[in-house]
Amino acid sequence: MSGAGGLHIAIIMDGNGRWAQRRGMPRSAGHIQGVKAVRRIVEACAHAGIRTLTLYAFSSDNWHRPGPEVESLLKLLRCYLSTETRRCRRHSIRINVIGRRDRLPGGLVSAIEDSERLTAGCSRMRLRIAVDYSSKHSIVEAARRAPRGGLSAQGFQDLLAQVDHSLPECGPVDLLIRTGGEQRLSDFLLWDCAYAELYFTGHLWPDFGESELREALAEFSRRQRRFGRLLAETA
Ligand code: IPE
Ligand code: IPE
Ligand code: MG
Repeated sequence: MSGAGGLHIAIIMDGNGRWAQRRGMPRSAGHIQGVKAVRRIVEACAHAGIRTLTLYAFSSDNWHRPGPEVESLLKLLRCYLSTETRRCRRHSIRINVIGRRDRLPGGLVSAIEDSERLTAGCSRMRLRIAVDYSSKHSIVEAARRAPRGGLSAQGFQDLLAQVDHSLPECGPVDLLIRTGGEQRLSDFLLWDCAYAELYFTGHLWPDFGESELREALAEFSRRQRRFGRLLAETA
């Protein structure tokens, strides 16, 4: 996957429930299959030289789902952290969970802190996992913490990182991928996606693998990013 080095990719991993329902299985089976796709994509991205990968695992609005589904999602996440931390260390992948922590179960918060501590020295790729994440909430909270005289865009971004428990200097998103066919952002990384290239695919998340990632990166490489300028100036 040439040309992918140094990029920040963000993925809205959508379609687990439909994947399971189409097979007559419970939605939770789709989430389990979704975790397998996460493993594949994390390794493929590290291999491709991606600098930062941000995955949307649980939105703040996902609290509105039925209790058992929420519980199974949070349990899966905890399980993922406990099994994958060692593997990430081996591949030098630094784990960072972004989003609110004040509403998460205590055991999950400890697991998050352990994973972040144990992978703090890893430098090949940053794996950010968004949990209880809402861009609108983060922006409002950062604005509330801003000093009276206001601050620069960079200063605001630093505040946002603080609010989100994000590692500093992750940079803006270069490519945002959403699986599952919907074409919306669902309150994900609104600030960071200001100039992101958007890529929507009908593949359901459990079916998303290395070749689908390659397809997305190939499409990204064909896009012309202008950042408001004229092409001649960006060349
Ligand atoms: C994405 O899959 C995973 C989460 C939102 C946690 P969904 O559970 O939204 O699957 P669909 O969209 O209902 O198929
Ligand atoms: C977005 O998917 C959240 C995650 C993938 C974690 P949703 O399935 O919750 O989004 P909507 O409801 O279709 O916008
Ligand atoms: Mg969905």
